[in-house]
Amino acid sequence: MKEGKEIKRYTITAALPYANGPKHIGHLAGAYIPADVYVRFLRLFKKNVLFVCGSDEHGTAIPNQALKEGTTSTEIIDKYHALIRDSLYKMGISFDVYHRTSEPIHHKTSQELFLNLYNKGLLTEETSEQYFDPKANVFLADRYIQGTCPKCGNPNAYGDQCEKCGSTLSPRELINPRSTLSGDVPVLKPTKHWYLPLQQYEDWLRKWVLESHADDWKPNVYGQCKSWIDAGLQPRAMTRDLDWGIKVPLPNAEGKVLYVWFDAPIGYISATRAFFQEMADGKLEYATPQRDFGRVNSEDWKLYWQSDDTKLVHFIGKDNIVFHCIIFPVMLHASGEYILPDNVPANEFMNLEGDKMSTSRGWSIEMHDYLAEFPDKPDVLRYALLTNLPETKDSEFTWKDFQSKNNNELVAIFGNFVNRALVLTEKYFGDKVPVCGPLNKTDEGLIAEVKEFPGRIATAIEAYKFREATALLMDLARTGNKYLAETEPWKLVKTDMARVSTILNLALQVSANLAVLAEPFLPFSSKKLKGMLQLKDLQWSDTGSVELLPAGHVLGRASLLFEKIEDTVIEAQIKKLMDTKQPPVAATPSKPLKPTVSIDDFAKLDIRIGKVVAAEKMEKSNKLLKLTINSGLDTRIILSGIAQHYTPEELVGKQVTFIANLAPRKMMGLESQGMILSAENSDGKLKLLFPAGEVDPGSTVS
Ligand code: 2FM
Ligand code: ZN
Repeated sequence: MKEGKEIKRYTITAALPYANGPKHIGHLAGAYIPADVYVRFLRLFKKNVLFVCGSDEHGTAIPNQALKEGTTSTEIIDKYHALIRDSLYKMGISFDVYHRTSEPIHHKTSQELFLNLYNKGLLTEETSEQYFDPKANVFLADRYIQGTCPKCGNPNAYGDQCEKCGSTLSPRELINPRSTLSGDVPVLKPTKHWYLPLQQYEDWLRKWVLESHADDWKPNVYGQCKSWIDAGLQPRAMTRDLDWGIKVPLPNAEGKVLYVWFDAPIGYISATRAFFQEMADGKLEYATPQRDFGRVNSEDWKLYWQSDDTKLVHFIGKDNIVFHCIIFPVMLHASGEYILPDNVPANEFMNLEGDKMSTSRGWSIEMHDYLAEFPDKPDVLRYALLTNLPETKDSEFTWKDFQSKNNNELVAIFGNFVNRALVLTEKYFGDKVPVCGPLNKTDEGLIAEVKEFPGRIATAIEAYKFREATALLMDLARTGNKYLAETEPWKLVKTDMARVSTILNLALQVSANLAVLAEPFLPFSSKKLKGMLQLKDLQWSDTGSVELLPAGHVLGRASLLFEKIEDTVIEAQIKKLMDTKQPPVAATPSKPLKPTVSIDDFAKLDIRIGKVVAAEKMEKSNKLLKLTINSGLDTRIILSGIAQHYTPEELVGKQVTFIANLAPRKMMGLESQGMILSAENSDGKLKLLFPAGEVDPGSTVS
């Protein structure tokens, strides 16, 4: 977007969810609801806006899930694409297009962009050694390699991350790596890949992000970009050895696909192409236009991606920042054909009842589950999330807060106000809007306040402060409630019907303002309220006025806008959540595995069973016991560091396991002729290894 240039259209994107499983309410709070509020707001100004999303169907996440579910990648993406898309639409997320990265037009668009960069010599070719599974005959993606975490000793860390200590890893850091496909030890093998040399764009990024967006990008986004750039940018591989994805469009690139983070953001562009193609052909499959786009032609997608009077905004969660603020912009900039995002208002994460949300750990509320439980309440969840968005730091969803937001705000303030306005009108004036007579100070105060709200809410939305905007909307309802409480029209019915008429006229005008202004936040309730008020389609610019409903206008029937949610309902949800929680990964801090030894090495150890014939504490040592062992070969002394775990008395007569051929060692002036074997528990306690039944002294152990 050129500074000072008039904005002609908006391309608004929301992160393409991975079609590898259901998505939870944290995803809604991170990207989809803020994006939807923004888009609906723009539409209320009759802006030319296109809202784009779709499924991200490549990357190792998909075949991983197929492996887990014992099915194919294609089945996985088909299943989750439909589930996620339907849930998002049911939550009122009003995409104009919800596309898929598995579609040919996306493969084509991605390959074109790759070739554009390749042909300009902007990609570097590098051969490096990567893990290969000889049995499965494939290079192993990071997730297909497991081994011991070098940081915490977790024996099941992945090539990209240790889920126990949370460290980010690279496959070559793993100790004793193994392939999860065959279980075999992978070998390093050279492989060629194409890299985006990010370091060459450092100056450009410093100018574009750090200088030009210092004031308008959110501090969390700006800060992450800055630390990436300051840490020094590295070339990033844009291709992978994988059999699932978009083929690298070059000769001699057999078995190679585009990196999922190369193709996924291009998904926004291909979804736009698909939209205009479908609209031009009149055959809508992925396009669900939410406004009248007029006559379009298939090339119009270019206006939304290549014209610098278009404002591009990406809505994402914080884990996507680097891809949308550094890597994708470098790709777009390098191609020379595309506009860059004007803003990337990424949110932080939303936790759930005190813990990080995670589908795999069963600690999440999936969108489709919520909708199954509360099919008529998408707005309640929208509101509970909006009032709690993780805009500046991680936030927290609790079922109790959800209940309270519904009962104490939506029902008690918003619903209560419009219901009183409508029901009192119906009671005293039938189905017509009563006349507004002379105004007193209280009325004028109300009118002045109402006038300010649209501007205040708009300013918050334009600054991507959706939490604040939502709070202001509720403040408008509060203002209406306060007005009714102060003017008490029900008390004036016997004495001053003209006054009652004015009060209710104004209360209905406030309700009409609420109906329009609530649309971005609570689209379903807004629609219902508009029905009750029989309000024609108004725009944002119409609001702030108390002349939205002319006197005599015929109203619809009043009904409750929101319903109270009982404790039992909330308790059942909390119980359900607790019941699905997976136990945490076992907290056994195993020590790292030692390097592999051959069977011949093992055979060198002479491990035997011997009987303790005498035991005593070593003088001047609180650790060592002096054990006299009948080894079957001889009677020998072995010093063992078990004094804090066993008394001499409890050992005499016991059969213990020991290494018989360990070179003798001198300790505290005495020679120890072997080593007693014990197991060390995670709390540091030692347990001796006794044979399960009596054996002859000197019996060998193997
Ligand atoms: O983090 C995710 O869920 C990614 N699938 C987001 C992709 S956003 C875009 F680049 F497509
Ligand atoms: Zn670890």
